[in-house]
Amino acid sequence: MKVLVTGGAGYIGSHTVRQLGEAGYEIVIYDNLSTSSAASVLYGELVIGDLKDVDRLQQTFEQHHFDAVLHFAASISVPESIANPLQYYTNNTQNTLNLLRCCSLFNIKKFVFSSTAAVYGEPQDNPVQESSITQPINPYGCSKLMSERMIQDYSLASGMNHVILRYFNVAGADPQGRIGQINRQAEHLIKIACDAALGKRPMAKIFGTDFPTIDGTGVRDFIHVEDLAAAHIDALRYLKSGGKSQIFNCGYGQGYSVRQVLSRMQIISGIDFPVIEVDRRAGDPASVIACGDRIRQVLGWQPKYNNLDIILNTALAWEKRLIALNALTNTLDSQDYRLGTLLLLRRNLISKTDLDNALTEQANSPKKLGEILLQKSLISLETLQDVLIEQRWRQHANGLPQAS
Ligand SMILES: NC(=O)c1ccc[n+]([C@@H]2O[C@H](COP(=O)([O-])OP(=O)(O)OC[C@H]3O[C@@H](n4cnc5c(N)ncnc54)[C@H](O)[C@@H]3O)[C@@H](O)[C@H]2O)c1
Repeated sequence: MKVLVTGGAGYIGSHTVRQLGEAGYEIVIYDNLSTSSAASVLYGELVIGDLKDVDRLQQTFEQHHFDAVLHFAASISVPESIANPLQYYTNNTQNTLNLLRCCSLFNIKKFVFSSTAAVYGEPQDNPVQESSITQPINPYGCSKLMSERMIQDYSLASGMNHVILRYFNVAGADPQGRIGQINRQAEHLIKIACDAALGKRPMAKIFGTDFPTIDGTGVRDFIHVEDLAAAHIDALRYLKSGGKSQIFNCGYGQGYSVRQVLSRMQIISGIDFPVIEVDRRAGDPASVIACGDRIRQVLGWQPKYNNLDIILNTALAWEKRLIALNALTNTLDSQDYRLGTLLLLRRNLISKTDLDNALTEQANSPKKLGEILLQKSLISLETLQDVLIEQRWRQHANGLPQAS
């Protein structure tokens, strides 16, 4: 099955692309890299393009015969959407329209859309059901709800089947540390907690301590990005087997308070970073918890990472890794990022003789150097993965093409 993934270089998209790749899908990623990096794309063919560039988008559809479209690309900052609503209606709503026009031209019958709990606004019900009233309170939520509506209307008219996934609070990172959040506009609580623990910001703030919740602070449903990515694979499988259009909440159906998250991060990181209590922000609901029954029942979704400590640990490990990768790229003076060079010169992980022997073998075989080194047990799989990630980020930082 061949799938187009818009925004597949981004945080959630790249985790989904990785799982799609591992599951054997053929993948084309369409992304303008505005908030992301080619280094996060571990599988598939990356087309660097903007959804507003209708010609390029159409060419991409023409070149490939997609069986399904997964649409992640969007702008995601609520404050930015309030300051610049037209940008949000353009990038999120109008560009979804561009994509739907291509779906129409090329007769796409399966579509999965990244929506958000922000479409509910201040929820009337808690846990929030898919049938709960949708009343977004900011342009970001409105721009996504309008996209949902267009997808629904077009599906009815065309016979396309869609799955709309409404994500709650997404956090965590690839447990193997290969990819994670890099969008600088992301201002989510767990990202802030990581930054405070790593000294990237002086403190973490709690907005409001007088909510009617367990400890007076806001309560949210945090979902690990790996489980969310898996929901997309489940959605594709569902559509492939003839499933009809559906909306699903993506959350665990349980919440943690802001205070609980911050104090858990202090314990996990071992850093007692300052936490400041300030007034509530306008429009912040007390508690937003997903009713996640429908996705489990209909898609058979089975989350594996429903554990706050795993979410916090993987998020923190990724932020540490990002600091280390950035430090590496900043101190480099050479443009030579070949695997052998990295192993030998930069990391002292292999002897010159072993490397020369492996390179000789590589010259006479179709195998990649990494495969040969693994087969000869000259490096561990963990070391190879670690150095390959380093290689991708160095190449990315220096504008070099990525090794496959
Ligand atoms: N992160 C969250 O907590 C969260 C919660 C609810 C919903 N969502 C939704 O999930 C989706 C992905 O969010 P994310 O957190 O991965 O954000 P992200 O910024 O990491 O990823 C978005 C990707 O889309 C690309 N993109 C943006 N505009 C584009 C355009 N015009 N053309 C081509 N590519 C474009 C960006 O370069 C980036 O790779 C979005 O649709 C967002 O609304 C995210």
